[in-house]
Amino acid sequence: MELGERSYEVAIGPGLLASAGPRLRDAGARRAVVVADSGVLGTHAVAVADSLRHAGLAVTTIPVERGEASKSVAEAERIWESLAAAAVDRGTHLVAVGGGVVGDLAGFAAATFARGLPVWQVPTTLVAQVDSSIGGKTGVNLRGGKNLVGAFWQPRGVIADTDTLATLPAREYASGLAEVVKYGVIRDAELFARLEGAAGNVVARDAREIGAIVGRCVAIKAEVVSADEHERTGARATLNYGHTFGHAYETALGYGTLLHGEAVAIGMADAAELAVRLGRVPAALARRQDRLLEALGLPTRLPAGVSLAADALLALMARDKKALDGRLRFVLPSRLGHVELVDGVPAQMVREVLARPATA
Ligand SMILES: NC(=O)c1ccc[n+]([C@@H]2O[C@H](COP(=O)([O-])OP(=O)(O)OC[C@H]3O[C@@H](n4cnc5c(N)ncnc54)[C@H](O)[C@@H]3O)[C@@H](O)[C@H]2O)c1
Ligand SMILES: [Zn+2]
Repeated sequence: MELGERSYEVAIGPGLLASAGPRLRDAGARRAVVVADSGVLGTHAVAVADSLRHAGLAVTTIPVERGEASKSVAEAERIWESLAAAAVDRGTHLVAVGGGVVGDLAGFAAATFARGLPVWQVPTTLVAQVDSSIGGKTGVNLRGGKNLVGAFWQPRGVIADTDTLATLPAREYASGLAEVVKYGVIRDAELFARLEGAAGNVVARDAREIGAIVGRCVAIKAEVVSADEHERTGARATLNYGHTFGHAYETALGYGTLLHGEAVAIGMADAAELAVRLGRVPAALARRQDRLLEALGLPTRLPAGVSLAADALLALMARDKKALDGRLRFVLPSRLGHVELVDGVPAQMVREVLARPATA
């Protein structure tokens, strides 16, 4: 990840948990505080802690209950207090082991404690490996909204051990694949075609396929972030393809009904359809994207029986961070592998997309 003097290495591959100790030691760490998701506490977090101890570091572990509810100010405070009680010093590094929840939470705690501690991301979900562990966005949720309190805080390094994905529940794995498809549509037609050709192997979590995919996605995210670290030029906003619709679904349904990636998959189907109706891409592109999402086990429409009022969804989309002065703004493809920010999309057209029949 190229960010001048804050550049860092993103290591990707099988068996890398065992490399955590030497990596931190070489970076000057003497103590490590492992912030571990409860879902990997007895497995991947133990492997990381063992590696750190073998390298001669003193290690303490702070478990975090799995689930989005843990991305809270209360949990950040609990971590701050633990750090205060442990009298951390400049040789202490935080290590986040888990998915995006623990990565965002531990990253935020690191960004804010003593005005900044080094943090390492050890992502163990596909979402975290291809997305949340890269780029330095950290934060917690408020009752008033997701990710409303946070900081940009780049990690000292990212250790993405692709073996850890073997234990991930199928729905969580598929959710990560939605972000992978996103990278293909926004930036890499070749990645998209590769996924089409190898969908069976991808779903079966073939190790070689996963290694190649994670590597490509990380490279794309790193390119986009280094071009626009603080989301000022619009380049980083292209990563939100499918997310304007997706966030509206997540909020309207309440978090937990759809996984984030599932909401994004439906949102990408909507965005592609919107692009078709605006005459930006042929209908075949939207169908092709639907087929790939389905082959990867992802939804392209809301589940049967779920209906949401278009007015409520439109209001949520107008409030979305990407909306400009309440006008509707979407990231839309202009061809496979390329997207643009499109302003002032007529609300009526968005309603038509939302109202289209449930079968893809
Ligand atoms: N910072 C960013 O740029 C960014 C980008 C995308 C998403 N996010 C955030 O990431 C969060 C979602 O992350 P997520 O999808 O990784 O969810 P998550 O962190 O909630 O993890 C999903 C589930 O998988 C379990 N788990 C994790 N690794 C496992 C493994 N190897 N084996 C078995 N179970 C495992 C966890 O216990 C949890 O139940 C959201 O809060 C979102 O806002 C942040
Ligand atoms: Zn996302």
